Amino acid sequence: AIYSRIIGTGSALPERVLTNADLEKFVDTSDEWIRTRTGIRQRHVAAEGQTTGDLALAAAERALAAAGVKASELDLIVLGTTTPDLVFPSTACLVQHRLGANGCAAFDVNAACSGFVYALGVADKFIRSGQSKKVLVIGAETLTRMVDWSERETCVLFGDGAGAVVLEPSGEPGIYATCLHADGGFKELLYNPVGVSAGFRDEPNHGVRIRMAGREVFKVAVKTLDALVGETLEAAGMHEADIDWLIPHQANLRIIEATAKRLNMSMDRVIVTVDQHANTSSGSVPLALDYAVRSGKVQRGQNLLLEAFGGGFTWASALLRY
Ligand code: ACO
Repeated sequence: AIYSRIIGTGSALPERVLTNADLEKFVDTSDEWIRTRTGIRQRHVAAEGQTTGDLALAAAERALAAAGVKASELDLIVLGTTTPDLVFPSTACLVQHRLGANGCAAFDVNAACSGFVYALGVADKFIRSGQSKKVLVIGAETLTRMVDWSERETCVLFGDGAGAVVLEPSGEPGIYATCLHADGGFKELLYNPVGVSAGFRDEPNHGVRIRMAGREVFKVAVKTLDALVGETLEAAGMHEADIDWLIPHQANLRIIEATAKRLNMSMDRVIVTVDQHANTSSGSVPLALDYAVRSGKVQRGQNLLLEAFGGGFTWASALLRY
């Protein structure tokens, strides 16, 4: 069988850090509230003019260097984002040109916070089919561009960042299974109310903002992820005990803890970056993966369960041997 295997990871964060104490200065919140409800201590915020594509490019260059792959060798770039630089060309095309990989296929996937895991699932199929040999998969966001900084219910939750992996075909696993799902019936619980076709509004930030029913999202996320990890284990023919590391979407520590409990995993086998990065949407899983690899936690040969849940709703997972 042909598997796709991760041969390099990379990530990038904006320099500027906004702590909970910084937020306390301009919005009615507290470090204590944010930490106990979410686990977040700080987030990185893109500088003025710094785009999703800038972060994606930096993460991609690091992943290519780690993989020992030249940009000119790439035959596919798939980029998960819900905050693209432009409506078009896709951010994948912008990054492709800046890398010097012109000519290869390149496109974005919008699955909100599940964007990277969706992109990984897509890339895996291209490799398994024999269509692609060297694939760059990126998750990149500047979610803070959507945030209304006067709305405490949402502004404390999000941050900016990007992560990337390089995949190639291998006779050895590799990605064992990916599971992708969506239910557009949950649109009202988590969405941005404006856009090109629906129109913008004469409101701050042209009406671009995050509308979220936090408590409802929380409940559905926990329940859905519970079922998703069961489905993923079954698809891969594995059991809870076979998983070395859980690398979850970093939205809320309490959601992460619930998933770990479902898997009978202690928190020392779970990669947590939400305290440092907050919710970077599509950026969160590849950022956490790159952190786990570079810190020496994740070792070659270990089994990793990646999962994410986000607006749509969308939810997705990948079980792989690193
Ligand atoms: N600081 C202080 N108080 C706040 C803040 C804040 N930043 N935000 C809300 N509050 C208040 C509320 O006004 C409310 O006050 P009230 O009881 O007087 O009405 C109180 O805190 C409790 O609010 P809840 O929303 O019930 O708090 P909850 O415990 O549900 O926590 C949270 C809110 C953190 C948003 C939680 O519901 C959550 O994490 N939900 C999931 C959201 C999520 O993960 N979204 C992203 C997932 S998908 C994706 O990644 C896009």
